[in-house]
Amino acid sequence: MKTAVNQVADHPAGPAHIAIIMDGNGRWAQRRGLPRTAGHKQGVEAVRRTVAACGDLGIGYLTLFGFSTENWKRPAAEIATLMNLLSVFLKQEVGELNAKGVRLRFLGDRTAFSRSVQDLMNRAEAMTRANQNLILSVALNYGARAEILAATRAIAAAVAEGGLTLDAISETEFEKRLQTTGLPEPDLLLRTSGERRISNFLLWQSAYTELVFDDILWPDFNRVHLERAIEEYQRRERRYGTTTG
Ligand code: IPE
Ligand code: IPE
Ligand code: MG
Repeated sequence: MKTAVNQVADHPAGPAHIAIIMDGNGRWAQRRGLPRTAGHKQGVEAVRRTVAACGDLGIGYLTLFGFSTENWKRPAAEIATLMNLLSVFLKQEVGELNAKGVRLRFLGDRTAFSRSVQDLMNRAEAMTRANQNLILSVALNYGARAEILAATRAIAAAVAEGGLTLDAISETEFEKRLQTTGLPEPDLLLRTSGERRISNFLLWQSAYTELVFDDILWPDFNRVHLERAIEEYQRRERRYGTTTG
């Protein structure tokens, strides 16, 4: 049976692409007197629920912010736990995601991760390459400024080599050199935990994205919160600088 939101999400007005800043794992744990790492473990369950809900709702693209370039400043023990959770997730979940027709791709500089994690990431992408039900992008060691700088360097190199003229530098040429190339821009960017900032996520891509903030801490995030965000999105009027129709 289709829910109202299911019909809404199927509507041509989308959202086709939802991006989420999954925040609040540490506070979820601290409120329970648990170590922050317990929040990250529960956060993995919320990822599972969210991917399943997006599949059910017919969302085409889901992009999750899992680890930022700035998150390396955290205590070594917390980083080690996050790397371990990532490794376990890649070993245990990819088969099922593949069976559900989910295509996985990773944004960010993966060379900072261990060889074995990099291999798991590469294998997951290769295994799921042909899937089309849901394009799940996970941003790991991702920072939008680093991404924009890398694209700028690539543009400069193309100009220096004579393959691109200054006049030919366009938004399209620039986007080809971003890690998100091929993905539509996010329609809806949701951040949990009550923080109202972007924290270096998809700065170029979210120029006209609708921002939705929810106070829920990520480990408690479920389908109801996702549907609430979609309903909020549906109430917005996107104008792209023009006047109301
Ligand atoms: C988000 O939760 C997960 C990561 C950034 C890896 P946090 O760990 O940032 O949780 P809070 O914000 O400290 O509560
Ligand atoms: C943003 O959350 C990064 C991820 C969710 C992976 P942070 O918790 O790192 O952001 P700040 O430090 O509160 O801005
Ligand atoms: Mg946080």
